[in-house]
Amino acid sequence: MFEKVFIIGLGLIGGSIAYDIKDRGLAKMVAGYDINNSNLSVAKSLGLINTALPIEDLSDFDLIIISVPVGDIPKIYKKIASSLSEGTIVIDTGSVKKFVLDAVSKIKSKAFFIPCHPIAGIENNGPHAALRGLFNNKNVIITTDDRGSDVEKIIKFWKSLGSYPVLMDATEHDKIIAVMSHLPHVIAYSLVDSTIEDAEIPKFMGGGMADFTRIACSSPKMWRDIFVYNKEYVLFAIDKYEKSLCKLKTRIKKGTGIMEFLSRVQSAKLSHKRDRQLIIAVDGPSGAGKSSVSREIANRLGFLYIDSGALYRTKACIVDLDIKKLAFENYNGKWNLFYNGKNIDNLIRSEAAGKSASDMAKNTKVRNEINELIYRMVGNDSAVVEGRDMGTKVFPNAVLKLFLDAPIDVRAKRRKKDDCNATKEQMENRDIQDTERSAAPLVPAKDAVYIDTSASYKSVVKMINSIVVRTIH
Ligand code: DC
Repeated sequence: MFEKVFIIGLGLIGGSIAYDIKDRGLAKMVAGYDINNSNLSVAKSLGLINTALPIEDLSDFDLIIISVPVGDIPKIYKKIASSLSEGTIVIDTGSVKKFVLDAVSKIKSKAFFIPCHPIAGIENNGPHAALRGLFNNKNVIITTDDRGSDVEKIIKFWKSLGSYPVLMDATEHDKIIAVMSHLPHVIAYSLVDSTIEDAEIPKFMGGGMADFTRIACSSPKMWRDIFVYNKEYVLFAIDKYEKSLCKLKTRIKKGTGIMEFLSRVQSAKLSHKRDRQLIIAVDGPSGAGKSSVSREIANRLGFLYIDSGALYRTKACIVDLDIKKLAFENYNGKWNLFYNGKNIDNLIRSEAAGKSASDMAKNTKVRNEINELIYRMVGNDSAVVEGRDMGTKVFPNAVLKLFLDAPIDVRAKRRKKDDCNATKEQMENRDIQDTERSAAPLVPAKDAVYIDTSASYKSVVKMINSIVVRTIH
């Protein structure tokens, strides 16, 4: 696609682009520069770039990627602009677009500048944080009115990294991103600031606070620039937020109207309403920890949770089952299966029910019926779906596929703890039956992340959460 690419700034974004360009063969060579010498040597030792070069003369390169804090983008462009050749494309990756667009349009160059913003950041920075496939399934906003061949080429470039390019006006971008990305960072930084003095807090940190502290670990230089150069819209978003905060504060003070406030927000179900439906598929044998992990992820993300095994179990336990009357309900963070309004979770959890479900699951007609029910339950929402064939058959386009597994002794011990009367032999037999059947057998999807869950639950969840955050952020 390109002959020679030059990346200025080899942090998380620049470094991750470098990985993908090399892995996908999108350029014959990738050179780079970073103001920080140690970043440069790390980038070289990780193989992110073929060579490190100064930025004085870049006339040889056909794509230049400027991936530095927003305030430095025009400064860098000014430095390189006069050396660039006709036909060279320059893109940036900054999170503020109007400022960049205005500043670079005043700089003369033979090159063509296309402002881009891949919405793919995470809190880590530096070349060590670079990730392969970071841009897969992510939006990239391109803020130009031009629809010429260079823009087409850049659209194609982002598509080959698995991203979804979206063309948008720069001001519109800044307004939207102020709310969807900059405001959460303002809140995270200020929230953590308000707790710093309290030495006891870290000891008792729950999941909610941990999410804020994670965001507040983002690069101060990068976020300072964003707040400065998108000041108008960030302040506008903060004003709106302050009003909401005051509203809730008043209601808490008075002790009235709290439920209405929270219910209105909950029923907006914003986490279900992303621009795209996101499906996370979790497969594996019994006792691998699928349910605990899937429920945890679903609760954290506010996604629906579907336990397909529970549906097969119900089909095996209830004669003349009317599957339209089945529903998963989340009550206080606990997901249970309800039939005709009645909680049937306890009824279906025995190993005998598991074995009958496994027998029934060999039948393609039953599988089709359950799959249809799953599609209906999920609709257009984002969901965590667990089972045996979620990643291979039911949701082959899931944004993330996890295959959880552990040695049989570990799994059997877990099951014993769950009090479901399953012996090791029964579990092994069921696994063999599920793995060897011809209809949708239990196998890891080719693109699944395989995770051995033998370690402590806490460390497994931590690892999986970080994979999830990287995938869907
Ligand atoms: O996950 P579980 O143990 O509740 O599942 C019970 C049985 O249901 C399992 O042994 C095989 C079958 N099943 C299936 O064939 N496909 C699924 N997606 C989920 C479960």
